[in-house]
Amino acid sequence: MRKNIVAGNWKMNKDYSQAVALINEIKTGKPSTATEVILAIPFPYLAKAVELTEGSSIKIAAQNMHQAEGGAFTGEVAANMLTSIGVNTVILGHSERRAYFHETDALLANKVDTALKHDMTVIFCFGEELKDRQDNNHFNVVEYQLRDGLFHIEKENWKNIVLAYEPVWAIGTGETASPEQAQEMHAFIRNLVDKVFGNEVAENVTILYGGSVKPDNAKEIFSKPDVDGGLIGGASLQANDFFGIINGI
Ligand code: PGA
Repeated sequence: MRKNIVAGNWKMNKDYSQAVALINEIKTGKPSTATEVILAIPFPYLAKAVELTEGSSIKIAAQNMHQAEGGAFTGEVAANMLTSIGVNTVILGHSERRAYFHETDALLANKVDTALKHDMTVIFCFGEELKDRQDNNHFNVVEYQLRDGLFHIEKENWKNIVLAYEPVWAIGTGETASPEQAQEMHAFIRNLVDKVFGNEVAENVTILYGGSVKPDNAKEIFSKPDVDGGLIGGASLQANDFFGIINGI
């Protein structure tokens, strides 16, 4: 059976002492459920976060990484830098990376390959913009983001993939997709995975929803059969809100 996951994406928030305090708060107060909890926190605190969460069920993730193995790429972070400090999960393709850092499907395909080569788990993000939905083109956009950025992988690599559908118009806007809109897209995605990689892969892949998930709407969204959890931005920066969301599954 597929896993339920709630992942917090802190983005570029918190200084060091705030980060340590929040990790400790989450570690001690986290509801004990079967739901897997992942924290994607800024690079400078990753090693400390791994140390602080050792022995707990919390996993630490990076929010991005470079596709090259290493070398002259000033300011970038390579896969083996992450794995060598115990970070084995990475978010790739977040809409903010696509929009502000010009990450294309082709580049993401390379990043995915590098992450898989290092046996990392990839939380692969994708989702349409408002205009795509208004033009009724959202299914096409999502299909091509998946086909061009991810579907080149081998079937056996799917055990390292978590999908995160995040409609861009719902991220950080307070406007969330309705539970029905989320379910409709998640079912479409699972069906697509089924067509290309078969039923076993489709049934086992975790598909997260992201975009303004809060404690008061989480339960309804997570109750949908193809929504296996959430990727949480704003509401992951406050322990009680994050716990409320974890309790929604
Ligand atoms: P949000 O962000 O929950 O603040 O909308 C979600 C995300 O970007 O992953």
